[in-house]
Amino acid sequence: MPDLVELRREGSACVLVLNRPEKLNAISAAVERELLDALDSEEARSSRCIVLSGAGRAFSAGADLNEISRQDPDGIAAYYRETGDVYERVAAFPQPVIAAIHGYCLGGALELALAADFRVADETAVFGLPEVALGILPSSGGTHRLVRIAGPARAKELMLLRERFDAGEALRLGLLTELVEEGKALSCALELAERIAALPPLAVSVTKQAADLLAESSRETGVAFERIAYGMLAQTNEAREATQAFARRKRGG
Ligand code: COA
Repeated sequence: MPDLVELRREGSACVLVLNRPEKLNAISAAVERELLDALDSEEARSSRCIVLSGAGRAFSAGADLNEISRQDPDGIAAYYRETGDVYERVAAFPQPVIAAIHGYCLGGALELALAADFRVADETAVFGLPEVALGILPSSGGTHRLVRIAGPARAKELMLLRERFDAGEALRLGLLTELVEEGKALSCALELAERIAALPPLAVSVTKQAADLLAESSRETGVAFERIAYGMLAQTNEAREATQAFARRKRGG
């Protein structure tokens, strides 16, 4: 059986490819399990950036509807204990995660992309949150992440009033970092990964955590976190070397 999530190193990035193309990369519990294992792998942990992509003609058509149709309340509780936490694990990954999107990016797939730090899409990307029409709701962190990015009115519009939206609209709504021509999403994501890799790793990781924490906390907590994080980062060799090099250049030495 081929892996449901393919893992490979490309430059400084660890690329994780959803690999169930005959089902448009529908995200089953088995796919989530392999994604969790991939995030735990040495290759992922030692990389400077994770890039998420999809094999075939789509990023992913979302949660596996055949599995959803069979779930009962006990099964749902077990699901969140077992593999349903993968979206939070992606969001909390210490280094940045970039989703490289082409074709369909629906439901749980959009929630996976929203858990990433950056989203890059090509012109073929088609987004949508069909959950409400199916009698459920986006429940993998998508509702609150979308509200944070697009604001409550836009988020409700996308969840309740819009079946699909294209990459141009996703860009206008602030969901995308870059919109690129067909076939270029992965290469663009890899370029972003190299730009991130050129930065000091600890500063990148702490800044990612600060941005996520501050979006959810009071100003006082945010200011305290920034100061403590600064106190730690300023002691690192990377910070000392970079600031001293700047001072030397200014002195002309
Ligand atoms: N769960 C399980 N299987 C899915 C799937 C999903 N979310 N989305 C697609 N597939 C499967 C199809 O059943 C089909 O498999 P089959 O050939 O064995 O029947 C295969 O993937 C290809 O999909 P198909 O529907 O034939 O492609 P299409 O181009 O005609 O349509 C979509 C593409 C995305 C419009 C359509 O597949 C769709 O609406 N999927 C469900 C999307 C959805 O509601 N996702 C949110 C879940 S919360």
